[in-house]
Amino acid sequence: MNNREQWGTRAGFIMAAVGSAVGLGNIWRFPYVAYENGGGAFFIPYLFALLTAGIPLLIMEFTMGQRYRGSAPLTFARINKKAEWIGWWQVGISFVISTYYAVIIAWAMAYTVFAVNQSWGTDTEGFLFSNYLQLADTPGDVGGLVPSAFIPLILVWVIALGVLFKGVKRGIELANRIFIPTLLVMFLLLVIRALTLEGAALGLNSFFEPNWSEIMNPGVWVAAYGQIFFSLSVGFAIMITYSSYLSKKSDINNNAFIAGFSNSSFELLAGIGVFAALGFMATAAGVGVDEVATAGVGLAFVVFPAIINSFPGMNGLFGVLFFGSLVLAGLSSLISITETYVSALQDKFKITRQKAVLFGGGLSALVSILYATQGGLYFLDAVDYFINEFGVALAGLISVVAVAWFLRHLSTLQKHHNNISDFRTGLWWKICLGVITPIVLGYMFIQNLVTNLQSNYEGYPTSFIIPFGWLVAVGVIIIGFILAAFKWKSRDLEVPDHSDAKGDGQ
Ligand code: ALA
Repeated sequence: MNNREQWGTRAGFIMAAVGSAVGLGNIWRFPYVAYENGGGAFFIPYLFALLTAGIPLLIMEFTMGQRYRGSAPLTFARINKKAEWIGWWQVGISFVISTYYAVIIAWAMAYTVFAVNQSWGTDTEGFLFSNYLQLADTPGDVGGLVPSAFIPLILVWVIALGVLFKGVKRGIELANRIFIPTLLVMFLLLVIRALTLEGAALGLNSFFEPNWSEIMNPGVWVAAYGQIFFSLSVGFAIMITYSSYLSKKSDINNNAFIAGFSNSSFELLAGIGVFAALGFMATAAGVGVDEVATAGVGLAFVVFPAIINSFPGMNGLFGVLFFGSLVLAGLSSLISITETYVSALQDKFKITRQKAVLFGGGLSALVSILYATQGGLYFLDAVDYFINEFGVALAGLISVVAVAWFLRHLSTLQKHHNNISDFRTGLWWKICLGVITPIVLGYMFIQNLVTNLQSNYEGYPTSFIIPFGWLVAVGVIIIGFILAAFKWKSRDLEVPDHSDAKGDGQ
């Protein structure tokens, strides 16, 4: 417990936290979520969600990790042994996410190469589904392995696990110090170019045009909260793990604001870049922006290649910049997601980091092969949907209710972070976590449950959605309880001494 690894510097920690937050969710999810949910008017629920749930929860997770100096299960167990399962549940969610997140990065890697001479051709949709993914006809069919996805997948794991092997300071911190500034420069170049394309203003108008009637729609608020959770990496053990490597005196509150606002700024930048490019494409094709706007796989691997095709010049360069950005943003998030279970295995089973990387990361890498098959996209889609709707958001809800109401631990945490931070949190922090966040997340959960019980997500057959949707979401909870049942040595649960820690704003 005394020789826990530590970040080299405060900036290194912030960079890693931002690297975790800035990921695929910012680039391919946010622009469309905002556009679909009221455009300019979406920023009100979005900001509200950021300030009432995102940042308060980030402060809570940072404080928990820094105070109890453990992976998520150890941190929860140190607060109360009965709560340990919540930590494992969150770690389990991260494990599941890492299995498919790696595959999307692998696709982006392959597309970085295709981008050089746009070898995806003119029919980018046909290329993705028939040539590249060789998509099976029926959800649930595994089909053969797709080598063009499998080979980059190996590379993704070699990089991510290689970084984790090296440890917190010489691995994670160093990687983020390289990835994040590079990502920023690449992405800025791309956005600046997109803004100077013909039709960019049209795209931006569609993106920012406020649809005020949407603001009264509860679905829009739910979308804002969902986006903030995934995007900020809260609710899945990451931020607890990362902050467990902070020094005793490190600031918490300011760090959380810096990380939260950096993530949202990047998100906004991505929205501007993506919609400027969509405006360009719509203008070139003589159609409305609504006909080209989309999210996820469709946006990144169908629409963007088409946009790159019609670029007036340097198509290869801008294609590489776009897909390279996806790779870097994705890798820094994947590293953080995987670190949650590397750290948890080390803490609980007293194994070395290298062994934890090998067992935990190795198992995730093995599972991820499922998504590199011809049926991979269906599995990925179902697992991603369920683990987000009934994993991240629900685990966020349970953890906040447990800490605020069952363990009655908010005051202890507040005292702790106020003691070492540049500025103090007040009553608003407790109200946000104890009242507002549980109400919104509780409503969100019930609404999601009803929708999914009424009809299957994407109309997938029940025989497919039960094992690859419901069972995955429920399975991680069960695994949480099982892993929590293993005994700790009593010394492990001693709360680290912070009595000599006084804030110096380090
Ligand atoms: N926060 C990460 C993302 O946005 C997981 O993709």
